[in-house]
Amino acid sequence: MVIRDALMETPRPDAGAIRRIAGRTGLPEATVRGWVSYYADLAEPPAVRVCTGTSCLLAGGDHVRARLQDAGETCRGVYCLGYCDRSPAWMDRAGAVHMGEPPMVADEGRSLPDTRCLASIEVVAGRLRQGGAANLRRARELGVYAGLESTLRRSPAELLDAMERSGNRGRGGAAFLTASKWRDCAGTPGDLRYVIANGDEGDPGSFIDRVLMEHDPHTIIEGMLLCGYAVGAGRGIVYIRSEYPRAIEVMGRAIEEARAEGILSRPLAGGGFSFDLEVFAGMGSYVCGEESALIASIEGLRGEVRIRPPYPTQHGLHGRPTVVNNVETLANVPFILHGGAEAYAAMGTDKTSGTKVVCFNRGFARPGMVEVEFGMSLRQLIEEVAGGGAEGRPLAAVIVGGPMGSLVTSDRWDQPMCYHALERAGIHLGHAGFVAVPEDADFEALLRHWMQFMIDESCGKCVPCRLGSQGAANALDAGGGREAVEQRLEPIFEVMEQGSLCAFGQYMPGPMRGLLEHFGERIFAGKDNR
Ligand SMILES: Cc1cc2nc3c(=O)[nH]c(=O)nc-3n(C[C@H](O)[C@H](O)[C@H](O)COP(=O)(O)O)c2cc1C
Ligand code: SF4
Ligand code: FES
Repeated sequence: MVIRDALMETPRPDAGAIRRIAGRTGLPEATVRGWVSYYADLAEPPAVRVCTGTSCLLAGGDHVRARLQDAGETCRGVYCLGYCDRSPAWMDRAGAVHMGEPPMVADEGRSLPDTRCLASIEVVAGRLRQGGAANLRRARELGVYAGLESTLRRSPAELLDAMERSGNRGRGGAAFLTASKWRDCAGTPGDLRYVIANGDEGDPGSFIDRVLMEHDPHTIIEGMLLCGYAVGAGRGIVYIRSEYPRAIEVMGRAIEEARAEGILSRPLAGGGFSFDLEVFAGMGSYVCGEESALIASIEGLRGEVRIRPPYPTQHGLHGRPTVVNNVETLANVPFILHGGAEAYAAMGTDKTSGTKVVCFNRGFARPGMVEVEFGMSLRQLIEEVAGGGAEGRPLAAVIVGGPMGSLVTSDRWDQPMCYHALERAGIHLGHAGFVAVPEDADFEALLRHWMQFMIDESCGKCVPCRLGSQGAANALDAGGGREAVEQRLEPIFEVMEQGSLCAFGQYMPGPMRGLLEHFGERIFAGKDNR
């Protein structure tokens, strides 16, 4: 029995249960304890999950928690449930998501009444797909798997070339060239290779991966299969966060359907290739979205970041060459490899080709998702596509790319959405979740929210982030005016940015610094430096 299964049977084990699990698994008690303390789903009692993510915070989600607690519910905070367009959100113990208050509306899992999901996505330009379907028959009618047979007649080398011509960059945040990653994996010797779809999507403000997994799972399966063929991988895993129970269910069902129809686990491409995959459910850890932590988590370890190199393409899951790609990246693959590489490259900008699905939270006049070509300015997206602030409320700024992204004030909205141009301007696009920050927002609450997020979610592997996250909160709590707090905070932020092992510690200070720079006066109004 593996440790994960044993712990899932006994969430929140006491000392006796830890001893028994250690005995059954043959692991030291300290290892079992280390596991339990790392994953929120194992460490905390079963409870209603109330979203305390940025979008829900700004939408007044505190009231929801108070109301549920008044009604006698045990509540647990989670940082995002993937319904940021309808904040505030909470999830009952059966996994149904409820939105807004009052009245609270249960999403029964049959329909999404007001989200513009992919089936009805408003496409401004550069449409890649005609909407999706969870059901295989309907997905086939929409063209999923239609090009598979002929594409698998081409050689893996041809597919790698096509991926390179498309110029596609990963959509998970780092914007790494997908062809380079695939070539590296294909070129690393190994008896077995893996493809992992990263469906951890922890950034408050992003929900495209959830919607793709729930509404278009077969396109993701097709993308993973094609990736497997191109790099020589026969096995795949879709890693899905536990906060997305419906995505876990829908993806699992789609995999079974694809298996039953002989798309998976049967010889393809003239018999020389077969591919199969499974779903792995996360256990409540933001950092498990980072690829090396994600792999560690699948391997049955604490989800801590590993020092790289070696990269997963060289030494990935169980030491084998592994491609880890974001769900949206993989959903773009069928379009590119079924002959669309040039058409894909023609969309977007010189440096960033293709399209991106941008998510807008409830703070905008038109919340939801929109697929746009790269190149459109942030201003067009914010003011024209999303319609500016909800109910005409003026916006002070927009948070782009989650807590590791950027706080972007309106003087910088004329930048084009292009990974290259935005990086040059110091803006991290991340997964392109946009969260509106209205003029009358509580900026101090936002600052404290990000600090608490750092404390709760740091994996603890490296010293600058492990100590810096709590140190930053202490620096704020020590009181005083703006100058005093900034003097205490700045060295901590600097060490985190310079010395942290992964983007979490390196990028988390950025939005907080932006908040202090632009809204410090309001945060510290009336506080002196003594
Ligand atoms: C703290 C942290 C969290 C991350 N979370 C995610 C995530 O939820 N989803 C994701 O696709 N990538 C996430 N990433 C990026 C992954 O490490 C990796 O770069 C990505 O999955 C690669 O896919 P891509 O090349 O298709 O972008 C995260 C990175 C860090 C540092
Ligand atoms: S920066 Fe933070 S999240 Fe990343 S490895 Fe270090 S402790 Fe872990
Ligand atoms: S659902 Fe609350 S921040 Fe995403």
